[in-house]
Formats: sequence, structure tokens, C-alpha cells
Amino acid sequence: MRLPPGPAAPAAVQTIEWIARPTDLLRRSAARYGEPFTLRTLWADAPMVLVSDPETVKRVYAAPEESLRGGASSTVLEPFAGPSSILLTSGEPHMRQRKLMLPPFHGDRMEAHRASVAALAEAELDRWEIGRPLRTLPRMQELTLDVILRVVLGAPDPRLRAAIRAALDMTQSLPRLVTLSLAPRGSPPWRQFEHAVARVDALLRTAIRVRGAAVARGDPRAVIDDLIAAGPSEDELRDQVVTLLAAGHETTAGALAWALERLARHPHVVARLRDGDDAYRDATVKEVLRIRPVLSITPRKVVAPFAVGDWTLPPGVHVTPCLYLAHRRPELWPDPTAFRPERFLDGAPAPYRWLPFGGGVRRCAGAAFATMELHEVLRAVVRRFDLAPDRRDGERMRRRGVTLTPSRGGRVVPLAWHRTP
Ligand code: HEM
Repeated sequence: MRLPPGPAAPAAVQTIEWIARPTDLLRRSAARYGEPFTLRTLWADAPMVLVSDPETVKRVYAAPEESLRGGASSTVLEPFAGPSSILLTSGEPHMRQRKLMLPPFHGDRMEAHRASVAALAEAELDRWEIGRPLRTLPRMQELTLDVILRVVLGAPDPRLRAAIRAALDMTQSLPRLVTLSLAPRGSPPWRQFEHAVARVDALLRTAIRVRGAAVARGDPRAVIDDLIAAGPSEDELRDQVVTLLAAGHETTAGALAWALERLARHPHVVARLRDGDDAYRDATVKEVLRIRPVLSITPRKVVAPFAVGDWTLPPGVHVTPCLYLAHRRPELWPDPTAFRPERFLDGAPAPYRWLPFGGGVRRCAGAAFATMELHEVLRAVVRRFDLAPDRRDGERMRRRGVTLTPSRGGRVVPLAWHRTP
């Protein structure tokens, strides 16, 4: 099979690099082979061709499912998300699930959660100690998991929260992630993971069963009620709920940890955020998601020959926009490694250049909601604290599961800030 050039190392070696030095691998491959280039990892059943120029990205996101199929490229997520997760379905079942999931995370229904997100953010900040270095990633994971549990299930359940974190934490340490990636399903490391997932399932199925009683009591509507009303089997419902809980908090927590890591090194941005200007806060959120995209790829499986530059990709391989590389193309983003929210003040970014939420019919269902969470947490933080870095050098992008998060957990030192009269 003739594919664009790429590293010649065996898939197992590329998998280890994909896990241990993901951004190095992406930058090095783009510099050495140009675009498109091909990577081979054990996370996918076939080689993956990466692209980042806006024209090709647009064609990938606009391609119909008879040509490129999104769900078929995310099988790495199946052990946790389940086979009928929206991340894995395609065609009509996928669109049906999207129709159910989009409304609760947009418009008035999203706005109804803004005040409780702000209140949870304040409660989290109450725990920060002045002058004491803090790993923001685990704090933000707890916060965003609490938010999504409320939105999806109507109430946070501490046991379910702990079980979800326990399962996801198994995909966060490098040695463990390498072991899981190289070991066959059914081997001891996988059995441990499956055990953790079974614990999540048991708690979730109970939460689903008691939901009827909560509705009868007159509890406010939650996303799960919409999902139940669509009449899925219990297994399908489980997959949708787990997907929302995982996709809906891990990514946002990573983005928040990056925001705090960047702000601690850019005090002038914090000072300007304090003016309370919504447009500047929005530009800051966009710049965080540009410079540190939590997800680096949005793969699609080729089902009918697909042209990329001079190449025709055959069915069976994957093609993916690379969000990380798209966000650092110097001709699109002058001085791409500089953290500069101002670059977003002149209006919306041109299409197919700024891609933290992917695109097309699979664009992130929670993009608006996540943006709202980022706004509310940043608003609360700058009202109360100055942030200092614990070290001068910024943190590296480190893989935790599918996300790329700060290597040292997004450490910042909260300092007291008093409004000058
Ligand atoms: C900063 C936070 C977030 C980032 C960076 C992010 C990013 C992404 C990306 C890149 C995709 C894949 C899009 C594609 O393949 O084109 C995705 C899909 C998805 N995200 Fe998010 N996400 C975030 C927060 C959320 C939240 C809060 C929710 C929960 C409501 C959510 C729910 C989903 C769902 C359900 C999908 C699958 C959509 C589909 O396949 O149709 N995400 N997200």
C-alpha cells in the first residue's frame, strides 16, 4: 500500500513515542516528511495520515460518511465508552444521538447551569491556600466532573465520581498507558482496567434506575431524562452516559489546567482579564485552546478512496486533521508559540484554522458548554488571585489517555490579590 512518507520505526516503537513524546513526534515528523505524513501506532487498526492545511482539513470535515467515517476511527475508546457510544457510531444512529445531546448543552438549557458552574468554581477556590503551590489538573478534574454529573445525572454521586476517576486514572500514567497499549485485551493489565470499568457500570446502572423516582419527586430535568425518553436499551444508555461524563470533563479539566499554567506565566493577561471585558476573556479562552489543544487529532476512516495532495488514500487507512500542527502553522499564526490572546480580538478565527473542537458532523457536542465553563472559572480566579509559576519554564504537553495536559499537573502558586481602590 503506497502511503505518504513517515517514520519507519515499527508500530510498537511509534506507539511508545505517541504516548511518551507526542508533540515531539508530531513536530519532528512534519519537519522531516512534510505534509501529509503517515504514523503507525497500535492505537489504530491501520496507518494514520496527518494533515493540517485549512483546505485539506475542510475537505476532511466536509466529507460525507460514504467517504470518510468518524466513528470507525475511535475504537481505542471502546473499552471505556462502549460500542454504542456516540464516539463510535456512524450514519443515522450517530445523527440521532447528536440530536439528543446537542440541545442540553446549548442555549437556555446551558445558561441554566452557568450560575451553578460559577458557584462550584468559587467553592473550589475557597480551598486554595495563598502561597502554596497547587496542582491544578486534579482540582479541575474534580470540578468539571462535578459539573457534568449534575448536568447529566441531576446530582453528583461521590462514589460514581471516585469510580470514574479511578478508571480514567489508569490511563494517565505513562508506564500504565504503554502497558495497556502494547498488551493484548484479556491480559492482566486489561483485566484491572475492565474491573474498574465494571465498578463504574454498576454504580451507573443504579443511578439510571433511581432516576425515575427523582423525576417523580419533581427534581429538575437532567440530560439523562432526554436520553431515557428516546427509549434506548440499558446498555446503550450506559454507553451514552459514560461518554458524556468522560468526554465532558477530562478535556475541559485539561483546558482549564493549561489556562492556569499559561496565566501564571503571563501576569499582564491576568491584569487585563480583571477589566471584566467578555471579548478579552473569550480571546484568552481561544488562545489557550489554540496553543495547547487538549486533543491533538480527530481521525476519520477512509471508506472510499480519498485524495490528499498527490496521494490517493485507500479504504481502510485513517486520515486526520492534526489540531496541534494546524494551530502552529506560522503562515496562519504569526509567532505561533507565543501566548497572545490579542490575536483573537479582531473577530472570529478564519474557518478550518482554529480546530480545538474538531469539525463537521462530529464537531464537539459540548464546545459551547466547555467554553462557558472556561469563562466562569477564569472570571472567578482572576477576581480572587494573582497566579505565580512554581518554576520559570512552562510545562510540557504530556499525554494522559487521549488528552495532552501539563506535564507537572499545571502547578501554580495562588497569591492574594486586593483590588486597589
Ligand atoms: C475544552 C473542552 C473540550 C474540548 C477541547 C473538546 C474537544 C472535542 C473534540 C476535538 C472532539 C472530536 C471532534 C471531531 O471528531 O471532529 C469532541 C467530540 C465530542 N465532545 Fe468534546 N471537547 C470538550 C468538552 C466537551 C464537553 C464539556 C462535552 C459534554 C457535553 C463534550 C462532548 C463531546 C461529544 C459528545 C463528542 C462526540 C461528538 C460526535 O462524535 O458527534 N466535549 N470534543
